[in-house]
Amino acid sequence: MFLLNHHPDHRQPLTEEDAATLGLAGARQAERFLAARDNHAETPLHALPALAAELDIGALHVKDEGRRLGIGSFKALGGAYAVMHLVLEEAARQLGRAVAVEDLHKPEVKAIAAQMTFACATDGNHGRSVARGAGLVGARSVIFVHSGVSNERVAAIARFGAEIVRVAGDYDQSVREAARVAAERGWTVVSDTSWPGYERIPGLVMQGYTVIVRESLKRLREPPTHVFLQAGVGGFAAAVAGHLIIALGEARPTVTVVEPKRAACVYETAKAGRPVTIAHSKPTVMAMLECYEPSLVAWRVLSRIGDAFMTVDEEDAVAVMNRLARPSGNDPAIVSGESGGAGLAGLIRATGDRKIRAALGLDGNSRVLIINSEGATDPGRYAELVGMAPDEVPNARLPA
Ligand SMILES: Cc1ncc(COP(=O)(O)O)c(C=O)c1O
Repeated sequence: MFLLNHHPDHRQPLTEEDAATLGLAGARQAERFLAARDNHAETPLHALPALAAELDIGALHVKDEGRRLGIGSFKALGGAYAVMHLVLEEAARQLGRAVAVEDLHKPEVKAIAAQMTFACATDGNHGRSVARGAGLVGARSVIFVHSGVSNERVAAIARFGAEIVRVAGDYDQSVREAARVAAERGWTVVSDTSWPGYERIPGLVMQGYTVIVRESLKRLREPPTHVFLQAGVGGFAAAVAGHLIIALGEARPTVTVVEPKRAACVYETAKAGRPVTIAHSKPTVMAMLECYEPSLVAWRVLSRIGDAFMTVDEEDAVAVMNRLARPSGNDPAIVSGESGGAGLAGLIRATGDRKIRAALGLDGNSRVLIINSEGATDPGRYAELVGMAPDEVPNARLPA
């Protein structure tokens, strides 16, 4: 399925609040917070000339978030950042003075953090990030997981010291349960999705993701002409595209949002022109993208700056994992988990279809940026899907 954006707000400027969330000052702040973390390292940006030639485009770069902060996905940038931010805000309020990120180790700030509990629902990756952020500042975290989250993913969250609550049902039900329990107990919900009346914290989560763009633009000799961004609730795509557009202005790339056909809530929202909840289908292998309701903030951004919306099939996702694991020519091998390569799967589909190629203006001069949003976050599943022995999976053991 492929759709050009027909929303009346398409190509209109972002709202003032979204521009502030995703703008340069916010991105710089997210970088400063990141620099304060011990295991911080810029993630690699790989050129894949052999694959670019196969797809008949000018250049292809893949920003590889697979080992970000030892958490295995770009999500490491969002939830943990929001937790740190919220602790500093609370400390500033209670202490009656400004508190900097470097002060997070100070006893008076730690004492305040120790009184705070952060909760969220997760498909896996976001929960790891919130748990990690809470662990770093000495706060408590309670992570709500639905019945589809694998035991391996749950164990990875628990390793960061989080308490786990299993919820019957799907992701959207776990989001509601986390919000309900947190409201009852006075905990702070750090969600990666937003809804009416709850936008600020998911905005902070998205602000954390803008670091991916800052790092990519620093390394690219020329800005991309196209980006293909995978979406669950749309926060990742909105944050990356939003910051790209603010940073590049007129030289902005064409933005295509890619989802699994089995969980295409952003696609259906774009088609309807307003946020819609879609019916549940069979589970998708792209487990992190299995969302049935878009994030309100993400849609507000994507309705303006998303140029096209498309879906990919289950086989496309698995084929991309394999293609990245065993690359053409001298292209580097990249470990891409089930949801990590969906953007690339979208590009491959688009380049292989004459009409979509033309609609997006993809040609031999196009410079495409893709983000591999996760590594082997479920190493057993990864090994099975790429036909490797589990102990051969390169980043199966992520440092804590
Ligand atoms: C690896 C990976 N890629 C992409 C996404 C999509 O992000 P969003 O739900 O913000 O659209 C997620 C979300 O969990 C993810 O874990």
